Amino acid sequence: MDNYEFCTRWIAEQDLGEGVRVLDYGCGAGTIVRKLRDLNIDAYGCDVFYEGGDYSKLVDTALPDDAILRMDENVIPFDDESFDFVISNQVLEHVEDLDHVLAEMARVLKPDGQVISLFPDRGVWREAHCGIPFLHWFPKYSQPRVYYAAAWRVLGFGLLKKDKTVMQWSRDFCEYIDRWTHYRTRREIDAAFNRRFSDLRHIEDEWLRRRLGRRKNLASWLPAAIQKTAATKLGCLVSVAHKSPRI
Ligand SMILES: C[S@@+](CC[C@H](N)C(=O)[O-])C[C@H]1O[C@@H](n2cnc3c(N)ncnc32)[C@H](O)[C@@H]1O
Repeated sequence: MDNYEFCTRWIAEQDLGEGVRVLDYGCGAGTIVRKLRDLNIDAYGCDVFYEGGDYSKLVDTALPDDAILRMDENVIPFDDESFDFVISNQVLEHVEDLDHVLAEMARVLKPDGQVISLFPDRGVWREAHCGIPFLHWFPKYSQPRVYYAAAWRVLGFGLLKKDKTVMQWSRDFCEYIDRWTHYRTRREIDAAFNRRFSDLRHIEDEWLRRRLGRRKNLASWLPAAIQKTAATKLGCLVSVAHKSPRI
């Protein structure tokens, strides 16, 4: 099961009453929106469609025009208290102002609405966009990591190589990480969620078992805490929280 399927199933398995509405924040091409709509769940998406990876041309043309909206000034283009669930998949490591984004998510959630977020923290072992271990642990703009990434690339590692030379590929990805990613520690992330939401739960163990599918027995015998750590180091944080009554 991939992350799209995981998010879709997780929503579908909640207690969905009449008129439930779901928002996919940073929806990209809208895969989750389409999958939820295929299950007759009223789903929408929004995205800034930024230069760091613009998926706007890949949005499914079968979706109605009002299903996926472009964001302006980082404001979610939907009314206050209009959604029961907000999903974000591999988005929050790209946002510069996490507090603002979480405040926006809380604004559009109905009282007691829930957020589910999947994204890597700084502690993840492999930089997910280029596939190089620990590249995001180097300070931004540092030159040695260009050679570090190039060395891994020579050994055969790395994603999206296209027809770039080793050094060009390495320079481009280091620039991408500098411009378009904002890795935070787990502690910083949890603190930001706790300011806007309540009952924060980490469900990486559930995510891991579902991702493994029929191979889940490989992980099931491990204590949940170890499953969670393995999932966050090799994959991402997976957290669920309720809109805080304080908001
Ligand atoms: C790796 S893609 C993931 C797209 C989609 N969630 C998916 O799973 O296919 C990251 C997405 O985050 C969006 N994004 C980046 N910064 C954002 C922000 N501040 N607010 C909303 N979306 C943002 C990008 O435009 C891009 O579509």
